[in-house]
Amino acid sequence: MVVVLAIPIAGYAFRYLVVGERAFVPDLAPAFRARPWGIYSHALFGGIAVLLGPFQFRRDLLRRRTLHRAIGLTFLASAALTGAAGLVMAPDAFGGPVSKFGFGFLGVAVIVAVGSGYRRIRARDVAGHREWMIRSYALIFAAVTLRLELPFLIVAFGDFLPAYRVVAWTCWTPNPLAPELDLRPTRASADAPHP
Ligand code: HEM
Repeated sequence: MVVVLAIPIAGYAFRYLVVGERAFVPDLAPAFRARPWGIYSHALFGGIAVLLGPFQFRRDLLRRRTLHRAIGLTFLASAALTGAAGLVMAPDAFGGPVSKFGFGFLGVAVIVAVGSGYRRIRARDVAGHREWMIRSYALIFAAVTLRLELPFLIVAFGDFLPAYRVVAWTCWTPNPLAPELDLRPTRASADAPHP
């Protein structure tokens, strides 16, 4: 299900690189025009991160260490770069301080999560690495949850602006809680399967 949802959202992001300004959402276009390198790098690295993440959950690929490392490093760099670009764009986000802070904190959370995942594996803490990388992808998945939630919020609030302010927070704050339910049973187990 994650892959099925991630593919069209990555395609949606890559569309920015293919059609340029014609992809811009009208309400968001002035901010994108002011900083085109921000949105194009954000869409490129965001698309890569959201697409690559699911490969790291496949046990057969996890066992192939070189491949796992190559995909993992690409995911890590892409997630950190899209988070940094998102953080740079956040002060210009549509919807005022509520959405600016919502997206800004998401950028910080992604950078902290991937940084923690990297530091854990450098310290050979496999269980800690696994937890932080799952959290990282749950946060990157905000790109999907935002676009799933937004149409319902627009209907509920009757307008794009309040819906956008709400979704800047609801697209990511519950996401790390979902894998938490899955992590709890394995947390105590020192021999959790991982390369
Ligand atoms: C890493 C955390 C992320 C942060 C902090 C973030 C932040 C932002 C911000 C601030 C904007 C501009 C919104 C505005 O001007 O109102 C934006 C737009 C956008 N983001 Fe992200 N984002 C993140 C992840 C992603 C990912 C993983 C993707 C990949 C699919 C993505 C794809 C896009 C696209 C395509 C837009 C253009 C707006 C649209 O067409 O919906 N973002 N993001």
